[in-house]
Amino acid sequence: MNKEKSIGIFDSGIGGATVLKEILQLLPNENYIYYSDSKNNPYGDKSDKEIFNMCDKIMKKFIQQECKAIVIACNTASAKAAKLLREKYPEEIIIAIEPAYKMVHDYAYEKSTLVMATKGTMESEKFHTLYEKYNNHKTYLMPCKGLADIIEEGNDEKIQKYLKNNLAQYANKTQNVVLGCTHYPLIQEQIKQVLGDVKFFDGAPSLAKHLKEILEEKNLKSESEKHGEIYFIDSSNSEDKKYRFFTYLHK
Ligand code: DGL
Repeated sequence: MNKEKSIGIFDSGIGGATVLKEILQLLPNENYIYYSDSKNNPYGDKSDKEIFNMCDKIMKKFIQQECKAIVIACNTASAKAAKLLREKYPEEIIIAIEPAYKMVHDYAYEKSTLVMATKGTMESEKFHTLYEKYNNHKTYLMPCKGLADIIEEGNDEKIQKYLKNNLAQYANKTQNVVLGCTHYPLIQEQIKQVLGDVKFFDGAPSLAKHLKEILEEKNLKSESEKHGEIYFIDSSNSEDKKYRFFTYLHK
């Protein structure tokens, strides 16, 4: 890897690739270290303490690598651990994703909305605050227990079955869908097959914009004119994860 400092980015697996893809649109010349914690996937059903401890280990690795900013590309980890991580590491730039529910409020308030997220995100205080603040009173909340796991596993048959069994009840009832877990943008087409032509909202584009602004403000943006490097680490050393991650990024 060239000697410019990297941006660290992590998720409980390859879902965060959907965030990195958006970031690369705005910041293609940065170096990235992506940490996929697939050994501990799913985060969605774990306790706050377990999630904090897992994130803390990843933070330490990034700090050791002298990352110039750290992106939490996992809604569950953001909801459960971002605040504590910021308190523990006040020197670090920590950018955390959140479900794009405010975007619905700003751009599609009149439309009925389905928010899909992990059980952990949906039960979190952070999500409750967001929901109360931007409630359009036409919103269904769907904690998708087990969905991120089967997306991570990459089993299309299981995904289709899951969506048919759990999403079909919202067909013709919802126009907006908030993808409140970074794994879900990977299955947008399958969701459309069940719900029809819905409009998707996810937090990655605004996170990317925010990250760029912060780097500019702090004079940390790379001045390189060449595309940066992406270094992928998976906590269970899965070659399959690595392959799927880069295939998605280059699609
Ligand atoms: N990608 C995740 C999120 O955004 C985590 C899913 C999980 O591990 O349960 O919430």
